[in-house]
Amino acid sequence: MYYPDELIEEVRSKNDIVEVISGYVRMQKKGSAYFGLCPFHSEKSPSFSVSGAKQMYYCFGCGAGGNVFTFLMNYENFTFRESIQELANRAGIDLPELEYSESAKKEADKKGILLEINKEAAKYFYYQLRQPQGKIGYEYLLKRELSQETIHKFGLGFANKTSNDLVAYLKSKGYKDQQLVEAGLAGADEKYGLHDKFWNRVIFPIMDINHRAIGFGGRVMGDGNPKYLNSPETLVFDKSRNLYGLNFARTSRKNHMILCEGYMDVISLHQAGFTQAVASLGTAFTMGQATLLKRYTETVLLAYDSDEAGTKAALRALNILRETGLMGKVIDLKPYKDPDELIKNLGAEEFSQRLDKAENGFLFEIRVLQRDFNLKDPEEKTRFHREIAKRLCQFSEEVERDNYLEAVAASYHIGYENLRKLMQSYALKNGMAKPIERPKSGIQSKNTQEESIRKNQRLLITWLVEEPYLYTSVKDFLSPEDFTDELYREVAEKLFEELKSEKFSPAGLVSMFEEEEKQREVARLFNTKLNMLTTKPEREKAFHDILIKVKEQSLEYYSGRLGSDVTAINRVISGKVALENLKKTHISLKE
Ligand code: UTP
Ligand code: MN
Repeated sequence: MYYPDELIEEVRSKNDIVEVISGYVRMQKKGSAYFGLCPFHSEKSPSFSVSGAKQMYYCFGCGAGGNVFTFLMNYENFTFRESIQELANRAGIDLPELEYSESAKKEADKKGILLEINKEAAKYFYYQLRQPQGKIGYEYLLKRELSQETIHKFGLGFANKTSNDLVAYLKSKGYKDQQLVEAGLAGADEKYGLHDKFWNRVIFPIMDINHRAIGFGGRVMGDGNPKYLNSPETLVFDKSRNLYGLNFARTSRKNHMILCEGYMDVISLHQAGFTQAVASLGTAFTMGQATLLKRYTETVLLAYDSDEAGTKAALRALNILRETGLMGKVIDLKPYKDPDELIKNLGAEEFSQRLDKAENGFLFEIRVLQRDFNLKDPEEKTRFHREIAKRLCQFSEEVERDNYLEAVAASYHIGYENLRKLMQSYALKNGMAKPIERPKSGIQSKNTQEESIRKNQRLLITWLVEEPYLYTSVKDFLSPEDFTDELYREVAEKLFEELKSEKFSPAGLVSMFEEEEKQREVARLFNTKLNMLTTKPEREKAFHDILIKVKEQSLEYYSGRLGSDVTAINRVISGKVALENLKKTHISLKE
């Protein structure tokens, strides 16, 4: 179901990467590349580079990289196909109709229709809010101190008291009963027929990161049950993979995100200037949502309700954040229930101070844990200390573990040494963490060795990409099999083929891989930092050395496989000869 390679390449080559990225990132020319602040991680000095010559981007800080397609896949959350379509459009290239399989086509059509229906519904609700019959909704929102601007920004709307006016409207637009049910906007009832899901409620459209309405939340105006009614999950509404407010929050350029429980919290935070706030969608926070957040930040501050239920939910969210590799902190909202109420009562300035004082997730957990123990009772106190020791074992990195140990020991007046010993005995007994004074493990040194081999292979590939004329001088010594990492080998094969035929385009090579992860890794391969050697003999020696290293390491790799791999013996024999010849050969670089 993909476009032909030549067409993809045409689209790519007609969209200059410097021009496209300039539309998103402010950059300055430095040497042969453009530099700017990386849009994929938070930083203060620019390590994001875009090369017009290579038609690729690469961030030396976070390793994000690729060609113009990868950029849109990352920045706009497009699929590969969507980024091709977007750029074809930009360059005025007509794309042929894609040949989908029947089932893929049906699904794509169905999704498209549901999105259309949602869009129509959102417009309808928005319009109703501004009609006489919607006045009661508008007044409710004003009473909750939302400005007209905020109401507009979040596309808030109103579902009328009449129980089937949306259905009637959408049907007049040509949609079928079945489609309205699949969109989650209508329910079928034997007695009354098709009726609206939402009525007499203010409406919060839920948007994906591309600002498309994918579902709705509706709140009763006043007391009533349920307080919020939400769209069910549909083909376009996956509650575990979207977050309310992320469409705005993702461009807020803060070094953290604020995670809250409610739609109103998000809206009121954004109104107060905290545009980095998001919320889950009427369900508990999920791994999928954490992974989504990880694209934009490393730190998530929880602004959960300060009641018992909120605390429990915060503990669960902290666990999920930890598993995803995000740092979690907790904002203290007391004496108020939620961020919305705190801001209304104490103002944005106070909330900002609470943000700065957000408590470390682990220390929060220990503090909550402490409430279960009566520290005046020696037995309970001991159990509390044991529990702390046990939890400290979860940190596998020594420095981190020690820092927490120190912090907890100080806050709870526990002797540092005592707690350390307790933790250590726990760790040893349960094999949960390595003892603190541990020798360097064998596994670790093996990993670093493999990484250094891969690094040499990356250096060599980058060098060939930057100075493609070198290929003629090395082709007799080097083959794709010398790259022992599978992806590197695949890239080397494609790269060498292109270099042979002199139709060489590194950025084009990136789009031969469909998955974003691979595109990113290929970009890394092509952008390893070469040492800034200035004189020609120095550079020639460095290049020769790398070549020899890669060759030697490949020899070693295949020697280790003699016996298990039948082709290994040939590789070893021809490799030895090549290496000997290589050592005697001088390879010249251009100035
Ligand atoms: P809360 O009950 O904390 O409401 O629910 P809130 O955000 O403070 O709302 P206001 O300020 O009273 O208007 C938090 C979130 O839980 C979901 C909604 O997503 C809500 O935003 N929820 C709550 C439901 O889905 N259904 C409900 O009946 C209640
Ligand atoms: Mn509230």
